[in-house]
Amino acid sequence: VSENFVLIGPGRVGISLSYVLKNKGFSLLGVIGRSKERIDYACKLLDAKAVDNFESHIFKKAEVVLITTPDDAILNVACKLRALYPELLLVHTSGLHPSHILGDGPRLSLHPLQSFADVKEALKNLPGSFFSLEGDEKGLEWGKKVVEMLNGEWVIISSEQKPLYHLSACIASNFLVTLFYFALKGMQEAGIEKDKVKKGLLALVDGTIKNIKSFGVPNALTGPIVRGDVGTIERHLEVLREKSGLREIYLQLALFTVKMLEEKKDFKSQLDQIKKLILQHLE
Ligand SMILES: NC(=O)c1ccc[n+]([C@@H]2O[C@H](COP(=O)([O-])OP(=O)(O)OC[C@H]3O[C@@H](n4cnc5c(N)ncnc54)[C@H](OP(=O)(O)O)[C@@H]3O)[C@@H](O)[C@H]2O)c1
Repeated sequence: VSENFVLIGPGRVGISLSYVLKNKGFSLLGVIGRSKERIDYACKLLDAKAVDNFESHIFKKAEVVLITTPDDAILNVACKLRALYPELLLVHTSGLHPSHILGDGPRLSLHPLQSFADVKEALKNLPGSFFSLEGDEKGLEWGKKVVEMLNGEWVIISSEQKPLYHLSACIASNFLVTLFYFALKGMQEAGIEKDKVKKGLLALVDGTIKNIKSFGVPNALTGPIVRGDVGTIERHLEVLREKSGLREIYLQLALFTVKMLEEKKDFKSQLDQIKKLILQHLE
């Protein structure tokens, strides 16, 4: 497997991935970034050299370039690189973009289905993660070996599948954070002390995730909808009458929860009543 690589975009994903690759014996030839502060941080952590431009001599030895800039910058970086080095394996880590934005040569989209909020946490989470791979033969071969080295799992997807794949990943990760904020705000509005309730809510989320692991969906679901407690939902909706933004979110999520339960053959008849109530409020 090609081991001499250059990192372009020394952010959370780029630094973490480079760090673990170096630990597996890969050779990081240089780092190209934007802000000096970030480049210095990356070079210190990765014991690497900063590189000024794409024409640097280090590219003579490079086999792979890891492009971990924000999504919107990948195309521009790749175009410049491809014009200079048509045979280099270019790799990006965007969940959305197809690998063909890396041009006609060897290419790979290597997307870790993981959340990188900061480098330290990412280094703990990265090994054993799940990755999606999309690229040409050479790229896919490299990607599989790298993921296996990280004790991770991979799935090959097509470029057409990527937008919906990425959107679904955002729902699972990003919107979980948003939902937590939603719940925390509600508790605070109810007058409950923020620090205490944060701990309580975290335990609730942990417990729920454990239930999903043990029982899957929708079996992990608890609460008024699956119990058929129509009266409880009615009380919730009374509280939400004055809260226009939250009301819509609640109603849409409740409706989606009903739809999820309807997919199960043995759903209770009370579900019809709850669905009717939600639809009335959505009108
Ligand atoms: N974060 C996640 O959870 C996650 C998960 C899976 C995949 N991804 C993907 O991984 C990629 C990187 O995401 P990230 O969260 O690691 O981003 P990030 O932390 O914002 O890092 C991006 C880095 O690229 C640098 N940069 C920006 N434009 C550049 C350019 N033209 N040339 C060179 N460097 C440039 C930035 O410089 P500055 O320091 O000056 O801003 C920054 O250091 C994205 O494609 C993203 O979709 C992210």
